[in-house]
Amino acid sequence: MTETANATSPGAPKRAARRRQGMLPGRQDWSTWPHYQAAASGFRGYWYPVCFADQVGDKPRKVRLLGEDLFVIRDGGRIFGMKDRCPHRGVPLSYGNKQFPGTVSCVYHGWTFQLETGDLVAAITDGPRSPICGKVRQPTYDVEERLGMVWVYVGDGERPHPIDEQLPEELVDNAAVLGQRIQPRAGNWRFACENGYDEGHAKYLHRAALWRLFKPMPVWNTTKIVKRGRWIYRVQEKQYWEAEFPGLGRWSGQAWYKARPPKETRNIGNTSSHREVNPVIAAQEFPGFASVAMPGVLRIAYPTFIHYEFYVPVDADNHLYVGVMADFQKGVRTLPFYVKYLGAVRWLFHGQFSGQDRWMVEVTDAPPERLYRPDESLLQWRRLAEDTAEARLDRLREQGLTPADPTA
Ligand code: FES
Ligand SMILES: [Fe+2]
Repeated sequence: MTETANATSPGAPKRAARRRQGMLPGRQDWSTWPHYQAAASGFRGYWYPVCFADQVGDKPRKVRLLGEDLFVIRDGGRIFGMKDRCPHRGVPLSYGNKQFPGTVSCVYHGWTFQLETGDLVAAITDGPRSPICGKVRQPTYDVEERLGMVWVYVGDGERPHPIDEQLPEELVDNAAVLGQRIQPRAGNWRFACENGYDEGHAKYLHRAALWRLFKPMPVWNTTKIVKRGRWIYRVQEKQYWEAEFPGLGRWSGQAWYKARPPKETRNIGNTSSHREVNPVIAAQEFPGFASVAMPGVLRIAYPTFIHYEFYVPVDADNHLYVGVMADFQKGVRTLPFYVKYLGAVRWLFHGQFSGQDRWMVEVTDAPPERLYRPDESLLQWRRLAEDTAEARLDRLREQGLTPADPTA
């Protein structure tokens, strides 16, 4: 993928105008969205989930995130993050270990850094009064634990926003039982996010997935995209369960063994029969069942649970797929979820169904691209990303901070 930032080119105002209109005709590159185009390795200024919390102990665990190499380590009940490259001779600090509480020592010559601050507090092989001490500081990362996972903030020296401001709101305030999968996958994170929010593919690509076997899907539907807060929602307007293609014939995704299509269009879950909606989910009053937010979080609301996908940029060619299924129940009412999740959902949804997405993300090769009507969903996501990134850069500049060059 060749990409260049193009923020100040003479065509920029024209592109901005076209972006405001939403759709661009004909073949497209991505220069309409210069920040998005430049964000091959991800958007800085966000918290990203990197592993499960119980995978981090008192030995360093390597992480690659937004093209940066770091490690996480637990000490005194807290998890810390630090840049992985030892500043002495450049070996990975994650090969080292803890020699003193609250520190990590490099495996090579024993330079010892405080986990909290990154300060070099000892150089073991230069004795207790080594003059290098106090003169070197290793970059550290802010780390939080949420939803059973470790989240790392990658920014440009700004104060991180509270992680709860970035999580899906309903996960912050409500008890939920979670089923999760974290999977390293090939392909750019933007393809993964675009695939997740892509209007057209689920009805066709996934029509034969086991997860969909007994559930009807429309052939096509009309949709509008609605912005509410920091999310954009796909709102289904009219669904067509079969269609006559001129000169070709009839096409339908229905089969005798599938449930009957619902009579009306609904925006909580788009398939199968009406069911009672979980009160926490109902209370959100989501305008549409599929929504996406920065920095690449997908939310699919079903009547009884919500499925989330976090697309975590590892580097320009790899991402982490983090699938989270949340059932808003407490106590013994969580038991049916475990049975359902471990017995079926984990394999059918997070496994085979999501494996079809994985395959498409691996083989997507864009730009250039030639978009069609349902790709309005992709365009609106790019627009959200672009506008949010621009606002963040303005804030950084106001604070006198220099953002990292995403194309470097
Ligand atoms: S390379 Fe790390 S202490 Fe020498
Ligand atoms: Fe999909």
